[in-house]
Amino acid sequence: MDLFEYQAKQLFAEYGVPVPQGKVASTAAEARAIADEFAAAGKPRVVVKAQVKTGGRGKAGGVKVAEGPEDAQAKAEQILGMDIKGHTVHRVLVEEASDIAEEYYFSFLLDRANRNFLSICSAEGGVEIEEVAETDPDAVAKIAIDPLTGAPEAVAAEIVKAGRLPEAAVAGATEVVTKLWKAFVGKDATLVEVNPLILTKDGRVVALDGKVTLDENAEFRQDLESLAVPEEGDPLEVAAKEKGLNYVKLDGEVGIIGNGAGLVMSTLDVVAYAGEDFGGVKPANFLDIGGGASAEVMANGLEIILGDPAVKSVFVNVFGGITACDAVANGIVQALELLEERGEDVTKPLVVRLDGNNAELGRQILTDRAHPAVRQVDTMDGAAAQAAELAAK
Ligand SMILES: Nc1ncnc2c1ncn2[C@@H]1O[C@H](COP(=O)(O)OP(=O)(O)OP(=O)(O)O)[C@@H](O)[C@H]1O
Ligand SMILES: [Mg+2]
Repeated sequence: MDLFEYQAKQLFAEYGVPVPQGKVASTAAEARAIADEFAAAGKPRVVVKAQVKTGGRGKAGGVKVAEGPEDAQAKAEQILGMDIKGHTVHRVLVEEASDIAEEYYFSFLLDRANRNFLSICSAEGGVEIEEVAETDPDAVAKIAIDPLTGAPEAVAAEIVKAGRLPEAAVAGATEVVTKLWKAFVGKDATLVEVNPLILTKDGRVVALDGKVTLDENAEFRQDLESLAVPEEGDPLEVAAKEKGLNYVKLDGEVGIIGNGAGLVMSTLDVVAYAGEDFGGVKPANFLDIGGGASAEVMANGLEIILGDPAVKSVFVNVFGGITACDAVANGIVQALELLEERGEDVTKPLVVRLDGNNAELGRQILTDRAHPAVRQVDTMDGAAAQAAELAAK
């Protein structure tokens, strides 16, 4: 689960990591009221920051300095409702502007490839860190963290030194790193990233940005619910989540349903590949209905996908395993009936490919039902091509 910047900063503050003071607003008037408070406290300069769970906000115009309350309101008006890489901005963080002397980069993350934890530190922080990592990899230190030792002061000091932070920042950064490790462990995080970690002109080290990912497997001992912001995200994703579906909205035209995450991932690939021949048609979503999917799960999945106005055709790709194809085919038939009962008119073409256990039987069931929207193709590539062609029409 990814946190918003303001949530990450609240978490940092809980662990004693210095962060700028700030509050969240969902309207421009609220942003102004927050800036009013800062102005009354002698801090008229504030920064208005888009709260979206994606990177590159600054470059997209989602981070703006405001000189006073009126300006803060105007900047919030510009930023609220903005689209940043497909994420609509519903909230802004209004925080005191910091006097920045230098910007660094720091993160702790779960290093799956090495089955370990990793820290990354660089004196060359800020919005261009990805570029630095490519053009000057030596400037970005990567140090493995022994999970049993963690990052006490001696380890933290070593990380900061490897990142080549200047003398003036060493003590402050070392302290921040030890505290961030405590937050990382304490909250079962898989990522804690601070970019930029700054040195202020008066010599303090402050976390100016925060990206945190918490491990959902730790839900039994963490309060993740209080961090979930319900109305956030794509409305289809929200609806899918309510139905317990594994759904991710993408930006193409071919709706995808499959059983098993691996099959669905490769379905996305073949559809994108086939789509190249039809003007760049792409998959509209990821949806894994799992192994033993019932008719109801199939109906819920179809309902979500058909409810996406961008979807022009649907590719149902099923490989029968323990749940055989005849059961899946019956599921599709019942799902179509359920949808009709719910008043959904299924007119978008469904391309169905059944293979594996009892494929023949499954295909026969669909042939007998002869639903006008359904057409069957025996191979995955063939079905992908047909779904892409139908979507391009
Ligand atoms: N409170 C602040 N005071 C002064 N400058 C700030 C403040 N917050 C951000 N900035 C400036 O804006 C830049 C971008 O901010 P930030 O790192 O939060 O967003 P971003 O990096 O563009 O977003 P993302 O990390 O999502 O890619 C910072 O590098 C910093 O120079
Ligand atoms: Mg940043």
